Amino acid sequence: MDNTFAQDVIKGLTSKDKYLPSKYFYDDNGSRIFQEIMQMPEYYPTNSEFEILSLQAKQIIDKLEFSEPFNIIELGAGDGFKTFKLLEYLVSKEIDFTYMPIDISKEANKILEARLKQRLPKLSIKPKTGDYFEVLKKIGKKNTPNLLLFLGGNIGNYPKDQAINLLKILNGNMNRGDKLLIGMDLRKNPITIHNAYYDSNGITKRFNINLLIRINRELNADFKVDDFDFYSYYNPENGKVKSYLVSLKAQTVDFKQIGKTINFNQNELIWTELSKKYNSSEIETMAKLTNFKVNHNFMDCKHYFTDSLWEKK
Ligand code: AVJ
Repeated sequence: MDNTFAQDVIKGLTSKDKYLPSKYFYDDNGSRIFQEIMQMPEYYPTNSEFEILSLQAKQIIDKLEFSEPFNIIELGAGDGFKTFKLLEYLVSKEIDFTYMPIDISKEANKILEARLKQRLPKLSIKPKTGDYFEVLKKIGKKNTPNLLLFLGGNIGNYPKDQAINLLKILNGNMNRGDKLLIGMDLRKNPITIHNAYYDSNGITKRFNINLLIRINRELNADFKVDDFDFYSYYNPENGKVKSYLVSLKAQTVDFKQIGKTINFNQNELIWTELSKKYNSSEIETMAKLTNFKVNHNFMDCKHYFTDSLWEKK
């Protein structure tokens, strides 16, 4: 049994306002459901970021103003589908760089490396397995210029103080002049955002319910998943999408091994996820607070999403 997982779940479910950390969505099933989300027509961020990296790879690389060789260090590469376009451009121009995807899963790194080697035989790739920050500490110290990639809009899952903390740690492990390309979802028509997270086919609901299934399996709990529903809403006044599981009736859930029982009232919420949407002044503020300068915002043609290029001051 994963101890921190158990602790985090119990902590969240015994809080006055119940919550579960969204990072636990991504077990094998959850990662598969997330792939389905990324293929939904309503889920625009993936397409927007793909467009940016496909059409503006040259502009992004030109803006780095790096001497060669340099490193591209990616935090949480996933299947590397979007990054591929950037790597493809660099390889085609015979630019001298090394790609270092960091992932907690050795397996994911192995698969990514094999796929990339096949599609880009000339790519220099050095996957690193482990915690982002541990690995960064080691690579960051060298003299080679670094471009850090933190794509996909994952920063939006962190409440402001945590996001700032994370960015400060990244900054602390970078050298002056190093760059960070960070994906951030932008404010837009609220209906567009609403539909991306509260989809009519219930795929995002399945994504959330899967967390209960994971808890049942890994922590020996007995959530009755049919007695929970899903709700998500976007507040255009603060740019926050908040997602919830809803208890459809008064019920109890037992955690047998841990010896805990959690009570739910009818319609009680479990907050599962924050997906923050930014405007340009918020992006400026975040950068300023964490010792970065915003170099350029690379946006898709609809201005739905930005890959924001920051420089360590
Ligand atoms: C992977 C964190 C960027 O918040 O948009 C998609 C996850 N949650 N639909 C996001 C997610 C619901 C996604 N991120």
